[in-house]
Amino acid sequence: MSQQRITSLRKQIAKHDELYHRDAKPQISDFEYDRLKRELADLEEANPELGFEESPTNKVGDDRLEGFESYTHAAPMKSLDNTYSEEEFIAFVERVGKSLEQESVSFVVEPKIDGVAVSLTYEHGKLVRAVTRGNGIQGDDITANALLIEELPRKLAGEGIPDVIEIRGEIFMRNEEFDRINAERESKGLEVYANPRNLAAGTVKMLDRSEVRRRKLNIVLYGLGHCEPLPFECQSRYHEQLKEWGAPVVERYWKVNGSEGAWKAIEQLDEMREGFNYPTDGAVIKVDSLSEQDSLGSTAKSPRWAIAYKFAAEQAETLLEAISIQVGRTGVLTPVAELRPVQLAGTTVSRATLHNQEEMQRKDVRPGDWVVVEKAGEIIPAMVRVVTDKRNETSKPFEFPQTCPSCSQPISKIEGEVAHRCLNRACPAQLQGSLEHFASRQCMDIEGLGEAVVEQLLSRGLVANIADIYKLTYDELIDLEKFAAKSALNLIDGIDKSRSAELWRLLHGLGIPQVGATAAKDLAKAYGSVQALREASLESLVAIDGVGEKTAKGIMSYFSDEANSEVIDLLFERGMKPQAPEVINMAEAVFADKVFVITGTLPTMKRDQAKSMIEENGGKVSGSVSKKTDYLLAGESAGSKLEKANKLGVAVLDEAAFLEMLSSY
Ligand code: IVH
Repeated sequence: MSQQRITSLRKQIAKHDELYHRDAKPQISDFEYDRLKRELADLEEANPELGFEESPTNKVGDDRLEGFESYTHAAPMKSLDNTYSEEEFIAFVERVGKSLEQESVSFVVEPKIDGVAVSLTYEHGKLVRAVTRGNGIQGDDITANALLIEELPRKLAGEGIPDVIEIRGEIFMRNEEFDRINAERESKGLEVYANPRNLAAGTVKMLDRSEVRRRKLNIVLYGLGHCEPLPFECQSRYHEQLKEWGAPVVERYWKVNGSEGAWKAIEQLDEMREGFNYPTDGAVIKVDSLSEQDSLGSTAKSPRWAIAYKFAAEQAETLLEAISIQVGRTGVLTPVAELRPVQLAGTTVSRATLHNQEEMQRKDVRPGDWVVVEKAGEIIPAMVRVVTDKRNETSKPFEFPQTCPSCSQPISKIEGEVAHRCLNRACPAQLQGSLEHFASRQCMDIEGLGEAVVEQLLSRGLVANIADIYKLTYDELIDLEKFAAKSALNLIDGIDKSRSAELWRLLHGLGIPQVGATAAKDLAKAYGSVQALREASLESLVAIDGVGEKTAKGIMSYFSDEANSEVIDLLFERGMKPQAPEVINMAEAVFADKVFVITGTLPTMKRDQAKSMIEENGGKVSGSVSKKTDYLLAGESAGSKLEKANKLGVAVLDEAAFLEMLSSY
């Protein structure tokens, strides 16, 4: 039982990690996410024999995307443990006291900013790089976009500037800017963004700098990575130092002793945080002394010297008037709570997701119940619990439908999944969903082809599948509601442009079971064309990193289906010309079959980085110098390996020569 729940929780968390970190499109609130993680951590603790090394509880989420250079942080960028409970918070403070053998440890309490983590490297006071957290070890180089943030200091001014320092902080967007952008998008009939954090995360990862320039991002700095030499001894002094160097810093922090002082600071912070410049979702408490931080150390995921206390999301009580069932693009039936409208976190909420039948049964939610709903970070509101005291005695459990509410065909529960599905592919709700998905930003990115337009196209019988999008004419579009010459022309233009979208966008857009954006990218890289993927064998599919047996089978069954094949043929007949990613032919790559050994300290690169560059270009890296070694890549303080290479007559490269070889190829 525990094993099953652990597997299910790991899967759910991995999915939500990807939605949050990579796609910046979370589907559940932070609170719900943290609840899942907590349940998993508790189960893992109670069942240590089931292992947790590979568990999401032991990892930092990964935000890295295609199209960005990876950069290795000089000091890893870890995450924070968090809690919503005062007791756990106090237990943390006391645990630290015990470990340090001190009665009353000095702490700093500061706001937890709800933005996108960034690490800025300054060399001799000059900004050289801005990198996202990535997987904590390597992040994406977003310097070009970060330089568009007005407040970001290009240079540190003043005394005591280290030779090199990684300053960490959060990029965020103010609510007013978020509202401005969404209002503009709404007026153009475009999809609106869910919340300022997601919009900030999406913006720092845009390749189109002119669009980044149009959106105003802000930054606040509070954290320390690698620093040489270290001119301060504690976190509180570091805040002051940052301010003196001219960096944008937290408006307020508290220097406190022991748990009582810390808790008071948290209460004060909660009272004043609405007036801060940035969105906050909690407080972070850190051991003030850097040497004490060092002696406490870290786990693989987070430091032992800090914890985040998260403020509970806003909740409200309201009447559950009815339960309706939504049918998604893959036929999955999702129960939705239809609520008596209630004010929550500044907006009116009238619907909340109930996830699936299992979840509904777990919460025993019935039409006519009073329920508590919650909204954190302005994401889709969630139903937290039923107020059972107020339950009407005559209430009955909700009967999950036996047929699809959209097409009345029978539904079935897929083995091993919690969801019910409608299996009728001509189901109007599925068609609506799959067309919207195809046109969405994470797929073909066809501007102007959103929910309302798809609805009209379907009801007028202008499209019956995704390929029909490519036979739409100006005359048909101009006839649609709210369409004028300009919008019709823009849509025709957007559709035409999408014909030459990147291959992974098309693969993602097709809606192949199990294939999300990440798998689509892996597949595009491995096969280079839809045709090659169509002909792929199960063995070759499972050989691809990131493609498991389930995904491989999903792909095989998708392409063996005749209706799918017809639609794909139609897409190509109607001019689809997806762009294959650049693939390095390993046999012809610059380092094809060359064996490298790396030694010493390289001036600008980490060894790991050099290793990936060698491997990405066809070479191999070995640990020791022998006759088989082709090159020794040597940095400063290279010792015995350099001697041996010289003895054996192995070619020795310094970093510059190595980079030269790569770039001149
Ligand atoms: S300290 C070793 N301080 O929250 C990790 N993090 O949930 C040290 N965050 O990754 C992080 N405000 O991106 C720290 N005042 C603050 C913060 C803060 C926001 C973010 C940060 C971190 C995440 C963890």
